[in-house]
Amino acid sequence: MKPRILVARAVFPQVLTLLAQHFDVTANQDDALWSSAELIQQLQGKQGVFTTGSERISQELLAACPDLKICANMAVGFNNFDLDAMTAAGVLGTNTPDVLTETTADFGFALMMATARRMAESEHFLRAGLWNRWRYDMFAGAEVHGSTLGILGMGRIGQGIARRGAFGFGMNVIYHNRSRLDAATEAACGASYVSKQDLLQRSDHLVLVLPYSPEAHHVIGATELAQMKPTASLVNIARGGIVDDAALAIALKQGTIAAAGLDVFEGEPKVHPDLLSVPNVVLTPHIASATIPTRLAMAQLAADNLIGFLVHGKAVTPLNPQVVSA
Ligand code: DGY
Repeated sequence: MKPRILVARAVFPQVLTLLAQHFDVTANQDDALWSSAELIQQLQGKQGVFTTGSERISQELLAACPDLKICANMAVGFNNFDLDAMTAAGVLGTNTPDVLTETTADFGFALMMATARRMAESEHFLRAGLWNRWRYDMFAGAEVHGSTLGILGMGRIGQGIARRGAFGFGMNVIYHNRSRLDAATEAACGASYVSKQDLLQRSDHLVLVLPYSPEAHHVIGATELAQMKPTASLVNIARGGIVDDAALAIALKQGTIAAAGLDVFEGEPKVHPDLLSVPNVVLTPHIASATIPTRLAMAQLAADNLIGFLVHGKAVTPLNPQVVSA
């Protein structure tokens, strides 16, 4: 008998076809958004689940789904997993690293440029029919080339953004991370290590790429924003909750910083109402990895993890491999 799995959200049809070769699949191609109770109900008797970053795998869910052996996230981030609880319950978690690195770095850089050069704000102005003349300072933004690019969180995506800035745009790239990169990696991405305070004070454009953890909650709040340059822009492509969105809206209104670009939000898909009414923020709906080839590669890797583990006994990108060796 084939193992039974749940694909918790809509996914590429070809990935479902692949999964159906190995599993008895319950799919959700209507993309219904299930409550925790509904997810638990759907998971009864399933050995595996294909999740996106939106489905919370909690201790309560694990206790209610004793057949579950693997949760395969179609995302590099996995803050929707209670990984400690999964490990304690003997449930493997997997994510999709690497396949989205360059695409997400492209987007981070694009959002930084759009923010610095006021692209969304000026487009709204044009669409509103307000453009009636050229003016010397109309939507004059901040320089990108030659400016200082700060990166908080220097994993694979951060390094990709650093390379784009240093070698594509002649930027002075500085970063802060829990641990400093080795000298060869720093040279390969053209970045220098600085303290968090230096990063806040010196960056013309500060891009956040650190993973979410309880320690990273509101790592950028009113105090940190107050240390930034009034001409600086802030870009968050990491996770909602890393920035205190209410404090950011106030900082944008008061001119504490010049602009922000946000792809992720606290409590998304809800967006803090004050952010919707400030003009100097570019808002996008969590699409940093969204190109068809990359999303396909992410879905394929999540499927490979399910097949690898449930069929062949070895996942490709496990997060808590100790579950398997236990
Ligand atoms: C990730 O991979 O973590 C992204 O945020 C989901 O698109």
